[in-house]
Amino acid sequence: MNSEIISKITELKKKKNAIILAHNYQSPDIQDIADFIGDSLELARISSQVKEDIIIFCGVFFMAETANILAPHKKVILPVPDADCPMARMVDKSLVIETKKKYPDATVVTYVNSTADVKALTDICCTSSNAIKVVNSVETDKIIFLPDKNLGRNIARFVPKEFIFIEGYCPVHNFIYENEIKSAKERYPDAEVIMHPEVEPLIARYADKLLSTGGMIKYAKTVRNRKMIIVTEEGLIYRLRKDAPYNEYYNIGRDIVCQNMKKIRLIDVLNSLENEGPVIKVDDEIRVKAYNSIERMLKL
Ligand code: 13P
Ligand code: SF4
Repeated sequence: MNSEIISKITELKKKKNAIILAHNYQSPDIQDIADFIGDSLELARISSQVKEDIIIFCGVFFMAETANILAPHKKVILPVPDADCPMARMVDKSLVIETKKKYPDATVVTYVNSTADVKALTDICCTSSNAIKVVNSVETDKIIFLPDKNLGRNIARFVPKEFIFIEGYCPVHNFIYENEIKSAKERYPDAEVIMHPEVEPLIARYADKLLSTGGMIKYAKTVRNRKMIIVTEEGLIYRLRKDAPYNEYYNIGRDIVCQNMKKIRLIDVLNSLENEGPVIKVDDEIRVKAYNSIERMLKL
């Protein structure tokens, strides 16, 4: 059944001149058919450079929006349009406007896990792989950081600036508990602990490395015969085992799952190619403003 769907996808992709981009958290089925798999920054970069007419984006809503902002002349399709990131919905534009009024001399740094509306009110975007670089690059000493309170606090430790946080969070990473990390460390005492910076600062203290999903893959490829406890969404462990099979990877004793990332199935990809939709398109006025904040990040 899957092989039938896969061959139809391959055929239609060629016929319609489409490319499939997938985030590292996508299910194995989707990762296996993707032309490119990456983290948010890598996917943003590749979206801005694709030659194909259609981008099938296997990820969540804000990622497809970002692809449309960077490649407005391409058709960007999110196979399941309600695959959304709850953290991105925790901050809306009125909250940003209000906060900017309170701190007019601060620079707004926005994590890409945010809506286009919010990006349009942003000075510069960041991802989990470049957040420190981004906040260091801005001229002001005062930063409004949103929407991830955890990423913000986890990087603020390394940056001598004043931060104003907006208290959003990722429900997948925020609810990882200290006892889970402690018992994983007891089970695998000689393993390194590799975490995503969306975890709470209390949890981040247990990390040997805090890395974006792309950073985890890169790191795992540079070492051999290591043991690693991977504290992020389970899709990444599938990718690590495939791309860097010479190390051993463990979870924290349970699968950490982002249900939204898992909404897209092979059949949805096939349907989206057949129907050339659902198309994700940001309103022109918002798109131009949001583009500036993403472009500023990409230029760094
Ligand atoms: P990365 O940019 O590290 O892939 O993170 C995206 C994300 O949504 C993490 O929860
Ligand atoms: Fe959003 Fe968290 Fe899912 Fe990433 S893992 S898409 S931040 S809910």
